[in-house]
Amino acid sequence: MIIASNFKTNHTRKSTASFVNEVNDFLKSNDISNEVIVFPTATSLDEFDTVPNLTIGTQNAYAVEKGSFTGEIGTTQLDEFAIKTILIGHSERRHVLGESQDEIAKKYAFFKELGYTIVYCIGEPLEVKEAGLEKTLEYVYEQFEGIDTNYENLILAYEPVWAIGTGVTATNEDITSVHSAIKGRIDKPLLYGGSVKVANVREICSLDGVDGALIGTASWVVEDFKQIIENTKDL
Ligand code: PGA
Repeated sequence: MIIASNFKTNHTRKSTASFVNEVNDFLKSNDISNEVIVFPTATSLDEFDTVPNLTIGTQNAYAVEKGSFTGEIGTTQLDEFAIKTILIGHSERRHVLGESQDEIAKKYAFFKELGYTIVYCIGEPLEVKEAGLEKTLEYVYEQFEGIDTNYENLILAYEPVWAIGTGVTATNEDITSVHSAIKGRIDKPLLYGGSVKVANVREICSLDGVDGALIGTASWVVEDFKQIIENTKDL
């Protein structure tokens, strides 16, 4: 299982360090083999001394090594901490921050070229979900435009927009129907995200076609995140 925590705009440099160290100790002392990825804010990136199955990734970066791009970070800043994992296409970047599919595809191609592990997010808004499975899949497939889905270091995350940060989790049926359709086309690990929590992570991760979870809100308290890892360690 791959269990990932997306901090979004939460935690400080100090609290991130204590979170990462605590998760690291937990993985080490319990001999847990889950692949765990933590995406802190850009200001909290650092070089952490971790077990091989705990990786630190960046929530975002600009598709550039360095230059004049006010407010952005490039690979020079990521290289300082040996960061080689990036989240691309998250719904908040698409819908709140206005990243287009074209920009997302360029970013994807840039980081792919550099060999980054890319956690690539797709997912439909509520009005599309309400239009049915066929429309949902159509929408989701459009989010693969310009994306090389054969890339070896690709991990996918299906995150229905209406389930993110809302407390409303997709039903098992919603998840399995979308996951099996995506899996039928793209043979890559596929995470589910959207209101995953301690109480439901095991059930969700046990579903056919689910290879792990990308978790926001419920992962920000370290005790809960450790419990999430504990609840999925044998799957
Ligand atoms: P959530 O967020 O767990 O708070 O719903 C998931 C995500 O956006 O990755």
